[in-house]
Amino acid sequence: MLEKFFVHGGTPLVGTVRVNGSKNAALPILYSVLLTRGTTVLHNIPPLCDVTSTLELLADLGVKSGRRPDGALELEVVKEDGFEAPYELVRKMRASIYALGPLLAKRGRARVSRPGGCNIGVRPIDLHLKGMLALGARIANEQGYVVAEAPYLTGRRIYLGGASGSTVSGTANVIMAAALARGTTVIDHAACEPEIVDLANYLNACGAGIAGAGTPVVTIEGVRELHGSEYRVMSDRIEAGTFMIGAALTAGDVRVEGARFEHLAALIDALEAAGVSLQVEDDAVHVTSDGDFRPVDVTALPYPGFPTDLQSQITVLLSLAGGISVVTEKIYPDRFIHVAELNRLGANIRKEGNLAIIHGVERLSGAPVMASDLRASACLVLAGLVADGVTEINRIYHIDRGYHRIEESLKELGAVIDRVPADADSALLSLSPAASPALREKLVEYLRSATSF
Ligand code: EPZ
Repeated sequence: MLEKFFVHGGTPLVGTVRVNGSKNAALPILYSVLLTRGTTVLHNIPPLCDVTSTLELLADLGVKSGRRPDGALELEVVKEDGFEAPYELVRKMRASIYALGPLLAKRGRARVSRPGGCNIGVRPIDLHLKGMLALGARIANEQGYVVAEAPYLTGRRIYLGGASGSTVSGTANVIMAAALARGTTVIDHAACEPEIVDLANYLNACGAGIAGAGTPVVTIEGVRELHGSEYRVMSDRIEAGTFMIGAALTAGDVRVEGARFEHLAALIDALEAAGVSLQVEDDAVHVTSDGDFRPVDVTALPYPGFPTDLQSQITVLLSLAGGISVVTEKIYPDRFIHVAELNRLGANIRKEGNLAIIHGVERLSGAPVMASDLRASACLVLAGLVADGVTEINRIYHIDRGYHRIEESLKELGAVIDRVPADADSALLSLSPAASPALREKLVEYLRSATSF
């Protein structure tokens, strides 16, 4: 059933929120289970749509999985005769490309649909294929599928830098393939993201020989076999950053548990430059703000640069800063689909190539907007929290891919937000049991004063 959010802006976020396990760490780790023999137990795997889709694909590939009563996910490879990641799944979730490396290394064959593009960009896989070829695979392109074959893989030195710098999923795919290759593989210009470190930590717990993860040079000593292991996935630094920005945006006072300074230094630097107060603790960041922001220039870069996955969210805060800010997107030059929607809410942002030039405005004003991809949806929720009146956010299935019931976490921090059926006419909403009393009251007041959407 299609759903939407109604958000009534103006309430500061106050309290404590604990972020979930990292989607972008969990996905490659789940696929890397294909490399192992025996039982793996994973803690802190987030209950997200992308995780569910991944477990469905892994089940087709012979991986049995189930949640234990304590929430841990137990997985085991029970059959090894499949080798395909079909188009109908890959086109919905690019992360299915992570099946390439493990299937090739463990089963000698992989038939993975090319992911195609999405709202944030072209999403090529040339560097993935460069890595597999370097390890000795034969690669063919057949009806939109990559078909890779190799009776065995041989380690070697591979330069994995591309036009936009390093590749996270490309680095992960080569690490997974090299883990069972004969000999040593060295990846130059590897991605340094914390999610790569998490993958390496899990595989080393399974008996792999990976060194240098988190640095631009990663060395993988191939081994004959990998056993299962028990591992806790890192917390989601992008979810943490999203809540930190929401706290600042709404002039709130929020302690974000699970936020790690070393994963969020670039965001913390940008928020402090904008005038936000942050107290960094061991495993939390405490954010307070008066709601007045200085303009800041931000550039989205590979880690440890400012995360592209927080670019649209910080844009909301800068749209209310007292001056002109420039956001430069060096990873996905077209990742600005949120700009038009923010301008509908009264922002004054101009896209110039891979730049967003933001003239700060006094306030945003609620209106119906359209979510388009995961992080752009999060940006619209943040905008709704601070816009005057009610913001209706449609197509919120995008946000459920990367945030678990975000509206519940925000409600606990005081936000006035409700998830309702997409056809819930705003006039009926006040009667809907789905609407929280606070929203119902504010909405009836709003409906009395506003024209219909
Ligand atoms: C991962 O995507 C994340 N997804 C993305 O998060 C994130 O935005 C991205 O890394 C960058 O940090 C997951 O981890 C599931 P890349 P990925 O390969 O691995 C170019 C989210 O919202 N490139 O690091 O697909 C590419 O075009 C998602 O959670 C090539 O040129 O990104 C881009 O410009 C969105 N050739 C740059 O590299 C290749 O073969 C970085 O892409 C591969 C990538």
